[in-house]
Amino acid sequence: MTRAKAFLIRPLPATVEAAIATHFDVVRAEGDRILSAAEVLEGARGCRVVFVSAMQPMGREVIAALQPELKAVGTVSVGYNHIDLEACREYGVSVFYSPGVLSDACADLAVMLVLNAARRGHEAEALVRSGKWPGYSNVQLLGIGLTGRRAGILGMGRIGQAIAARLRGFGTEIHYHNRRQLSAAEELGATYHASAEELLRVSDFLVLCAPGTPELHRFLNRERIAVLPENAVVVNVSRGDTVDDDALIEALKSGRVFAAGLDVYANEPALDPRYIELENVFLTPHIASATTDTRHAMGMLVLNGILAHDAGEAPENQLC
Ligand code: DGY
Repeated sequence: MTRAKAFLIRPLPATVEAAIATHFDVVRAEGDRILSAAEVLEGARGCRVVFVSAMQPMGREVIAALQPELKAVGTVSVGYNHIDLEACREYGVSVFYSPGVLSDACADLAVMLVLNAARRGHEAEALVRSGKWPGYSNVQLLGIGLTGRRAGILGMGRIGQAIAARLRGFGTEIHYHNRRQLSAAEELGATYHASAEELLRVSDFLVLCAPGTPELHRFLNRERIAVLPENAVVVNVSRGDTVDDDALIEALKSGRVFAAGLDVYANEPALDPRYIELENVFLTPHIASATTDTRHAMGMLVLNGILAHDAGEAPENQLC
């Protein structure tokens, strides 16, 4: 019996690739990068399943052109803003993603961004490595402490809640804005703000971790930065276009914003080069979920969702 084919756009952990290969004939794209629509069409032709990752566009034209064979798209990511779900619904293509299993890893990284930006970790390390450290000083590399300050979390889903739990351990007050107010049990002492603007006013550390949606496009613009407290720190683990780069860069240059910690960028990997020139920005290359265990769990969750659906079940990680 011929087996269905699965196209892997990006390499996955070997454990996940091996598991996929027990169910499908695997076709792999060369390299490890985002493919153009033409490359996806060429590689995925005749495939029943396509495995994609965050940022890989799967638009209507691609979904339509891969008919009638394409039946499922599995994205090894919690974000799915890169997939045209409406087109998938229309063409009967099921979509699976990987929520939940990456929340702790993403929250760890968000806290790393807060700490590095606030305590100038990257500048401190660079100073030591430069060989130019003059020795201890009372006025060197002064940063901002977490205790007693207020974190404003935009998007209090699983990742936001995991960030809140961690920051609470630093004695930081937790404030949040979310589409819905959480129940008291979920909230665990966090203060809800009905509007994003209200949240911004109290955000000494603004942590953007809401899913990338068209409504949040350039959310953090000049007007909103203007209402942040003086010396605020901005952290982004959501999607790059949640931030208006011109506005944030201006605020970082003028000192209106003390520092930023960024893991995601508009136009990845071609981030705005002005960020690289700024000392008060700590930059990581979209690695929030990048731990060995997490990436394994993400891949397996997606594969298992596809298999469960094939077996007639309704897996929780099915988007449509
Ligand atoms: C996601 O899962 O959407 C992240 O951006 C990548 O880990």
